Amino acid sequence: MKIGFIGGTGHIGEGLALRWGKDSKHEIYIGSRNDERGEEAAGKYREILDEAGYSNDISGGDNRFAVENSDVVVVCIPHKSVVETIRSLEDVFDCQVLISPIVPMYKSDGSFCCEDCCAAVELDDAAPDRVDVVSAFHTVPAKGLSEFDRPLDCDVVVCGDDSETKEVVFDLIDDIEGMRGLDGGDLSVSQLTEAMTPLLLNVSIRNDISHPTIKFISP
Ligand SMILES: NC(=O)c1ccc[n+]([C@@H]2O[C@H](COP(=O)([O-])OP(=O)(O)OC[C@H]3O[C@@H](n4cnc5c(N)ncnc54)[C@H](OP(=O)(O)O)[C@@H]3O)[C@@H](O)[C@H]2O)c1
Repeated sequence: MKIGFIGGTGHIGEGLALRWGKDSKHEIYIGSRNDERGEEAAGKYREILDEAGYSNDISGGDNRFAVENSDVVVVCIPHKSVVETIRSLEDVFDCQVLISPIVPMYKSDGSFCCEDCCAAVELDDAAPDRVDVVSAFHTVPAKGLSEFDRPLDCDVVVCGDDSETKEVVFDLIDDIEGMRGLDGGDLSVSQLTEAMTPLLLNVSIRNDISHPTIKFISP
């Protein structure tokens, strides 16, 4: 699979790129607003995997480069910049699957809160109709992903309207050891999974649990 990252120079982009990039399982395209920054980040990820003995196929450039080379694109940028960024890339989109890990949240009086909106639906509205949007990975801490050899033990809730497109994302989740994808429903209910991240962060801070994630169990 050819996987591109808009804003792949940041935390979640690095974590997912390392996980999917190792052993040349996928072709990875790191994007940035600045092509040199994208190339630099790709070089850093290549070096990390080379040093650990993993073959890899990672290249970098600007966000347009990442989109035009990919079948699946992860949108790894802050919520406030999503609509403007996606509209600016409108002409480069073909029929890619767009993955939204975007969490619309803010901090108030020491607690994280969710904004009254759904980032995945906003992304879907801003993207061309030929693109399919699926939301996933909100509750996976970037830090845990970046330690790319550490097995995980977590669930990822996936929301989207098209079952075939969701399958593409479930397959990518299966490629990450210790991660299980669960169907959370249509894109319209993605706000529920987006809201889990501020909850996790508040629990983390108040209970001194570093990088918490979620796992659904049947007691
Ligand atoms: N970090 C996590 O653990 C985590 C977990 C789950 C979900 N998420 C979500 O994933 C998304 C990315 O999180 P992150 O922690 O990776 O963020 P980040 O490291 O703060 O930023 C990611 C990248 O976004 C780009 N960016 C910053 N400001 C921008 C702007 N105004 N316009 C366009 N691009 C901009 C930057 O790339 P360039 O400067 O190279 O363009 C930056 O490297 C967020 O929506 C977040 O809610 C994060």
